[in-house]
Amino acid sequence: MKVAAEVCPICDGTGWKPSSAGNRRVSRCDCRLQARSQGLLEAARIPKRYEHCELSNFEFDGPHQSLARPRLAACRFVEEYSPARENAGLLLIGTIGTGKTHLAVGIIKELILSKGIGCLFYDYRELLKQIQNSYNSSVQATELEVLRPVFETEVLVLDELGAVKPTEWVWDTVSLILNTRYNENRTTIITTNFDDQPAAAVAGPRGASRNETLGDRIGERMRSRLHEMCRIIKMEGEDFRQTIRSASFR
Ligand SMILES: Nc1ncnc2c1ncn2[C@@H]1O[C@H](COP(=O)(O)OP(=O)(O)OP(=O)(O)O)[C@@H](O)[C@H]1O
Ligand SMILES: [Mg+2]
Ligand SMILES: [Zn+2]
Repeated sequence: MKVAAEVCPICDGTGWKPSSAGNRRVSRCDCRLQARSQGLLEAARIPKRYEHCELSNFEFDGPHQSLARPRLAACRFVEEYSPARENAGLLLIGTIGTGKTHLAVGIIKELILSKGIGCLFYDYRELLKQIQNSYNSSVQATELEVLRPVFETEVLVLDELGAVKPTEWVWDTVSLILNTRYNENRTTIITTNFDDQPAAAVAGPRGASRNETLGDRIGERMRSRLHEMCRIIKMEGEDFRQTIRSASFR
């Protein structure tokens, strides 16, 4: 059976509805706003694995109490975000499985759905791989074609910053991305497993067992740039992937 063409009952498909003020003005109908949000959501490149992630299903009670603060900060960030002004980004730092990616995805989904803000999700490794591939002449996309949306999106999530072994090229590419967004006053949300500590060269020798830091992985200059661009949110707790498996949970 064919479903009757879905003409919006509010605006008769025009996309405009009478203003509630009763004057002769019109305003954009919700059906068009929804269509825009849907388009933005599809363009945001949120990976399948994280499609379920929302602020509303981010747990922060019982064993996850330590996540209450990060979650509150995330909700505030969404609430206060305004396209009309400069908005500092977020740097979500924590060990494996503490929900950094979940929270970052939850934030951009909410920005898209409640505020119609354009957002883009990129895994750091994937982005660098795509840029590197673009140098291969048999690949269609040029470097700029890959980078343009990354430069221009209103809000960028860069997931797993530092996860690629640092080389001169990696450092140059990361600085190009972060500096471009910084110069344009655009907002960047970053997740990382690396401690927000200086590079070894700056920190001095601390013995062989010293863990690599964010400074080691992206360079001291970029680490300091990040501090100007982002508010730091520490996420502590157990690996959520383990907790889900344990019988005591739900
Ligand atoms: N507070 C939470 N409430 C509900 N689900 C959560 C929470 N934290 C994490 N999860 C879920 O646990 C899984 C792992 O979380 P996520 O990938 O966000 O962790 P991560 O900190 O990004 O880990 P990694 O350091 O490995 O990138 C995901 O499926 C996510 O949806
Ligand atoms: Mg993650
Ligand atoms: Zn309508």
